[in-house]
Amino acid sequence: MNELQRSRVFRYGGDFADQCIARAQGSYIYDREGREILDFTSGQMSGILGHGHPEIVAVVREMVADLDHLHSGFLSDPVIEFADALVAMLPDGLDRVLPLSTGGETNEAALRIAKTYTGGFEVVAFDRSWHGVTGGAAAATYSGGRRGHGPTLPGVLTLPTPHAYRSPFNRNGGYDWRAEFEFGWEMIDRQSTGQLAAILVEPILSSGGIIELPEGYLSALRDKARERGMLLILDEAQTGMGRTGDNFAFEREGVVPDILNLSKTLGAGLPLSATVTTTEIEERCHDKGFLFYTTHAADPLPAAVGRKVIEIVVRDRLAERARDLGDYLKSQLRGLQQRHPIIGDVRGRGLLLGVELVTDRQTKTPALEAGMAISQRCLDLGACLNIGRRSAASVFRIAPPLTTTRDEIDKAIAIFDQALSECATI
Ligand SMILES: Cc1ncc(COP(=O)(O)O)c(C=O)c1O
Repeated sequence: MNELQRSRVFRYGGDFADQCIARAQGSYIYDREGREILDFTSGQMSGILGHGHPEIVAVVREMVADLDHLHSGFLSDPVIEFADALVAMLPDGLDRVLPLSTGGETNEAALRIAKTYTGGFEVVAFDRSWHGVTGGAAAATYSGGRRGHGPTLPGVLTLPTPHAYRSPFNRNGGYDWRAEFEFGWEMIDRQSTGQLAAILVEPILSSGGIIELPEGYLSALRDKARERGMLLILDEAQTGMGRTGDNFAFEREGVVPDILNLSKTLGAGLPLSATVTTTEIEERCHDKGFLFYTTHAADPLPAAVGRKVIEIVVRDRLAERARDLGDYLKSQLRGLQQRHPIIGDVRGRGLLLGVELVTDRQTKTPALEAGMAISQRCLDLGACLNIGRRSAASVFRIAPPLTTTRDEIDKAIAIFDQALSECATI
């Protein structure tokens, strides 16, 4: 790719990679020169079935020919079947599906639902969150993109992210997340104007640096939501559809949210998302004149893709596969940690893992420069392993397709190992 070709596209988030990608298949992408690169970010953390999955290809071919896009006032069988299949995967109560296109949209929809339902407007979000770049979602996003474009929506209050590796409540090796949690809520209650509407969180913060919520945290959040008349919204853009070793990350603790948002992984790389809630919430919103009318709401083509993704995830037990392969991948990463002092922490679950690089394990100073060099070297050696650059500076997010194999994991680990050996002292 020459400079002119590169400069044609507006840089929507930093610089583009040097490679121009010509083809994608399974766990690999290929550049114009035909060089293969292991895609261990599943595209943009979405392609859980790998690229060009034959069953998805067949659905897209059929749908684009027979039933692609409709006036948003129409329903169609693929949409009804998609909604049915999704509800069947979820706990009782989550039975109303709003089919949309992107993750940002689901958060806009969920916040609008919560505000309409409760009559409040204040939203609690983590201080390392990522919920999208559209107005409401961006206002609740703290891991990047906040500066330089004026005020965000009023009423968003932050809760400290329970980050065991870096929290100031982590003293002498013990992390008192409950003390941090109560401190956070004390601050929220002081700042609130008394019109709290929603808590919006990811069950594992991904862009924030692969930060798992401690066990018990989601239950504690649900209790705070109940006490204050708020709705609990879980944004499972990256964690849904088997990625973390359960179909949905909330299952680990059995805390059912009032609103569940799915995107990225739901379409396995194609633009499909959904906001799911209860009949009671849907009916109250409808009675109050709720409107969230988008061009691609309830489009049959992406819905048919979603229906097929659900079928494959359930049929092929991909959550179980993610758990097994994730345990293997994590053990390999822990092996690298023993040999490379630059690796300060390995965390996450299933096939959503984080590797944090530090210049010194005592000070935990982020090793951003070396991290960028390692990430670039991995790409040159044939593996796309991406490193965070903002609040998640120096954390690799490793998320291969759930269809990956041990051989591919071994190959990625060997490349990562070589890059760490060559670039850790930069
Ligand atoms: C947890 C989470 N929510 C929402 C979004 C936004 O999704 P989209 O970019 O599809 O609008 C992202 C994107 O990275 C995300 O990670």
